[in-house]
This record gives sequence, C-alpha cells and structure tokens, in this order.
Amino acid sequence: MSEESKSLSQFYLELDKKWTAHNYKPIPVVIKKAKGVWVWDVDGKKYMDCLSAYSSQNFGHRNPKLVNALRKQANKVILTSRAFCNDSMGSAAQKLCELTDYEVFLPMNTGAEAVESALKIARKWGYEKKGVDNNKAEIIVCENNFHGRTITIVGFSTDPDAYDGFGPKTPGFKVIPYGDIDALKKAINKNTVAFLFEPIQGEAGVLLPPKGYLKEIQEVCKENNVLMIADEIQTGLCRTGALLACNHENTKPDMTLVAKAVGGGVFPVSGVLANWDVMNILTPGSHGSTWGGNSLGMAVLEAVCDLLKEEDFSKKSNELGRFFIDGLNRIKRKFPDKIKEVRGKGLLVAIELQGKARPYTEAMMKNKPIGLLAKETHEFSIRFAPPLVVTKKELEWALEVIEKVFDETS
Ligand SMILES: Cc1ncc(COP(=O)(O)O)c(C=O)c1O
Repeated sequence: MSEESKSLSQFYLELDKKWTAHNYKPIPVVIKKAKGVWVWDVDGKKYMDCLSAYSSQNFGHRNPKLVNALRKQANKVILTSRAFCNDSMGSAAQKLCELTDYEVFLPMNTGAEAVESALKIARKWGYEKKGVDNNKAEIIVCENNFHGRTITIVGFSTDPDAYDGFGPKTPGFKVIPYGDIDALKKAINKNTVAFLFEPIQGEAGVLLPPKGYLKEIQEVCKENNVLMIADEIQTGLCRTGALLACNHENTKPDMTLVAKAVGGGVFPVSGVLANWDVMNILTPGSHGSTWGGNSLGMAVLEAVCDLLKEEDFSKKSNELGRFFIDGLNRIKRKFPDKIKEVRGKGLLVAIELQGKARPYTEAMMKNKPIGLLAKETHEFSIRFAPPLVVTKKELEWALEVIEKVFDETS
C-alpha cells in the first residue's frame, strides 16, 4: 500500500508496532478523542466504548466534574512524595472510608500495587498478630484468578499466558477452585494468613460464584483467624450494581482492594481499605510509593467520592445491567449455535461463545457508520462493561449492533 493511501489508523498502528513492546493484542482502533460512552478514532469514525478501560471509566470518559477536579488541582500542587504531607490525601481518604465503611486507606497507584500491598500486610499481620512462624505464611488464592502482572502475582496465576517464562514462582501461595467453600476449608492450616479472591472473576470471563459464597468466605475466615481480602479492582464502584460487589451479600472483608474507577478514568489511583487492627501493621519505612497519595490523584479520588454520593450509580448499573443481559439472552436464543452462555451482574457482563470471539469483536468494531468496542477475554468470551453513564437507548443500539454482527459473522 502506498504511503498516501494509508489511513491515519494504519499509520499509528504501524508506529505502535515498531516502537512499543508487543505485550497486548489490541482491537485495531486508534482512539483520538473520547466523551462519555463515545470515542472517536484518528480517521473520525465514532464508536461506543463497551469496555471502559477494563472498568476504569465507570463515570464516562472525561467526566466533566472529574476533569475539573484534575485541572484545579494541577494548578496548585501535583506531587510532593510522602516525604511531606499534602492537603488532599486525608480528606479524600476520609470520604472513601466513610463511603465504604472502613477506618483507613492505604493509597497506591495501580491495581497490582494494591494487591502486592495487601499481600505484604497479610504476611506481616500473620507473623506479628497471628503468631505464624517467620517465613511460613501461606496465602490462599483461586484458580482462574487475575490480580495483576507483578512477578509474585503471576506466580500464583493459573493462566500459562501470564506465568510461563517468569519463574521461579514466589513461594507461600496455595491455589484452590473458585466458588468452592469446602476447598477453602480444607486448604486452611495454622500458617494460613489470608484468602485473596475476586467477588466476580472479571478477566476469567465474568465468572460468578455460587450464591452465598461471599458470606461463607467471611464465616470461614473469621472462624480460622484468616484475613479475607477482596480484590474489587474491577468489580468496585458500582460496576456490578452495588458500591462494592461484596455488598451484594452484606460482607465486609478485612481488606478491600480498589483501583481503576477510584481514579475516575482520569488518573491512576489504587489502594487498600481496612480497619486499624490490620493496617496498623504498617509502620514508617515498611511500605511506600513515591506517587501513592499524590495531590492530583487524591483530588480526583475526592471528586469520585462526591460523584458517588450525588448519583445512584448502583441503581443504574443494576437496572441497565438487567435490561442488557435480557437483550443478550434474546440474541443467544436466536443464535444458539454461536452463543453458549450470557452471564453478568450489573453492567459487568460477558457472553461465552461456541467458537473464537475475536472475529466478533473485530466485526463489532467495523460496524458502520458507528462501531462498538468490546474485547474478547481469553479466546471464547466477550466482556461488555460500558460506562455506567450509558442510557437505555444507547444500550438498545448496542444490542442491535451485536445482533447484526452475530447474524453476519460466522
Ligand atoms: C481484579 C483485578 N485485579 C488487579 C488488576 C490489576 O490492575 P492494574 O492493571 O492496574 O495493575 C486487574 C486489572 O485488570 C483486575 O481486573
């Protein structure tokens, strides 16, 4: 193809391919502009975003209140490091703790850092409070987990794509089947300090545990003096129809991990929510992050908390989720040879296909005149997680596109 006939999209795709590591296989769309649920590519085509940056854009791209908070703070102070204090961190943490009913917040930046922080806290808690012998602490995790990409986290992943080639694995982790409370009971021993789990396994393809699982985890952890650690990095902040997915069963983990949407899709913010009897295990020098608790991120976090108080995103996510899942089930009934299952809670939804998902996600992207952006998760599922500001009418349109794609793609 001559240089002149190349689209701008092709130009940028080639640039990425040449100059950045090939650790992703993105849908080949090059986004230049975004607002609410809509994004535009460099060639001017419009798309609905049905992924929300893996649930980071719960409040819509460039939510004006959040961008305003970012701008305002950027004109004052952005980063001081934790060597000094700033006037944003305490008040943001207070608002998040009051919303989630925890006593204290440890601010970090990315999801994997929040997970690593919780693992460190759990081990130290085990030695100092539970009395586990030094270096013997064990943490139980689930099959098909996704908690991030650090060397320790991928070491307890059961996905070969994530762990292959990165050994040796960090010791001290035990893997059990997800949703199996008896397996948890059996796996616990005197050295067990924590159970780390996702209330819904998002990356695994939106896998929901059996009803009552969260409540049972809480009981088993309490009985055995084991910390219950919920990774709500993808499920948190109303994505599943409750502020935190653990709220669906009125459970309160010892630690709740948040990231993605707590930064409102405008700045990376993450962290660990806990009560003081656990968090006081951290003492000066035992943990830290140069950017964790920075003024800019904390100003955004405070604005996110204000937004959550002003609008009932859980109700919206619940109602629209039900509508969307019903619509997808209708499409499944029409194409039983192509769609195996529809599952989800709130607006965290997936369809599992009989065959490979990629041809369908690419066809959705190519839909004319407006495309739909969703991403396959593993080979056979497609996850749909539009921003929670989406309207019923917009979801009706999305369902029409999905139906058309299933009609036309084989
Ligand atoms: C449940 C869960 N935990 C942890 C992470 C890791 O977050 P990050 O990519 O910000 O490190 C993710 C990211 O997708 C996630 O979905």
